[in-house]
Amino acid sequence: MGWLAWERFRCNIHCDEDPKNCISERLFMEMADRLAQDGWRDLGYVYLNIDDCWIGGRDDKGRLVPDSKRFPRGIAFLADYAHSLGLKLGIYEDMGNMTCMGFPGTTLDTVELDAQTFAGWKVDMLKMDGCFSTSEERAQGYPKMSAALNATGRPIAFSCSWPAYEGGLPPKVNYTLLANICNLWRNYDDIQDSWNSVLSILDWFVKHQDILQPLAGPGHWNDPDMLLIGNFGLSFEESRSQMALWTMLAAPLFMSTDLRTITPQNMDILQNPLMIKINQDPLGIQGRRIYEDEYQIEVYKRPLTNEASALVFFSRRTDMPYHFHTSLAKLNFPRAKVYDAQNIFSGEIISGLWSENNFTVVINPSGVVMWYLNPVKNMDISETMYQL
Ligand code: GLA
Repeated sequence: MGWLAWERFRCNIHCDEDPKNCISERLFMEMADRLAQDGWRDLGYVYLNIDDCWIGGRDDKGRLVPDSKRFPRGIAFLADYAHSLGLKLGIYEDMGNMTCMGFPGTTLDTVELDAQTFAGWKVDMLKMDGCFSTSEERAQGYPKMSAALNATGRPIAFSCSWPAYEGGLPPKVNYTLLANICNLWRNYDDIQDSWNSVLSILDWFVKHQDILQPLAGPGHWNDPDMLLIGNFGLSFEESRSQMALWTMLAAPLFMSTDLRTITPQNMDILQNPLMIKINQDPLGIQGRRIYEDEYQIEVYKRPLTNEASALVFFSRRTDMPYHFHTSLAKLNFPRAKVYDAQNIFSGEIISGLWSENNFTVVINPSGVVMWYLNPVKNMDISETMYQL
């Protein structure tokens, strides 16, 4: 969990014209301050991640150096600053001749040197992109970088964009290998600041859930890309939906928004403690879509520790709040069991819900209702009957 510059701040290198928002030391220090002071870090959002457009070139020994105007005190300074606030620093490179925005890349010859440079700066995470390389170069480069990072002795989380450059599916993508060498990987297209983009990513992940869902687990995650919440493209309902759906997908939660100006309403969505608990569940099992119907209603389920689970009722409708009638038994939960259901957004608790009990959830257009379900153990039958 953390913050990543790309979706919101892109490759804005115009510090003269836009000093507050350009990719620079100042932007990362200001975000670090917000992460530390506004509750983010304490909820788990600890990574402060630089993306493209930080590189100035290579020095006379071939080592990467940041742009000296925009990062005058260097990356080691930023890493120290992040660490002093209890945060971790992430950086970006590209396995190829250039990064996607045309800055110097990592080639097969520089992999080891670059890994050592990052470790020397005390960087904690590397996102390695795949622009401007061939499939063969990527097939050599990603395992090589993984080994080089491990050889530095510094724990550095490794985010690989490799699968996204190979269509994201086997047999072209070898996910067994990826799970061994990467901690997370981008399977699919870049997210853009729109609801359509969220839906297209969700559709792809759901379409291929039989392949993708079993891949995720502690230390190796599918990455459907950043959270848009706090930006310009999503409504309130859509923002909640992205948060809930990404949580069900066991997605790494990387915000990409201006934490200096984010509204309390958007903070609430991103800082919901039960949501984060579900996202970070120690079993690390990715959820699946378990139901869809002709009324554009879908249900997602994610198994959690202690036999708990999370349910998301999602409406793709564009008309009005929809009354969805169902029961846990109809959603293939085991029969004759009793649950407590907590609504993740309202906090409301429904106690003593039997699998067979019919219930109704009211789902807003493009919105979700999300439940945290706990089985009630050793329930006294007479007491249960009384409650019902
Ligand atoms: C690619 C990646 C994005 C971002 C840009 C930077 O498009 O998928 O996430 O890192 O490159 O140029």
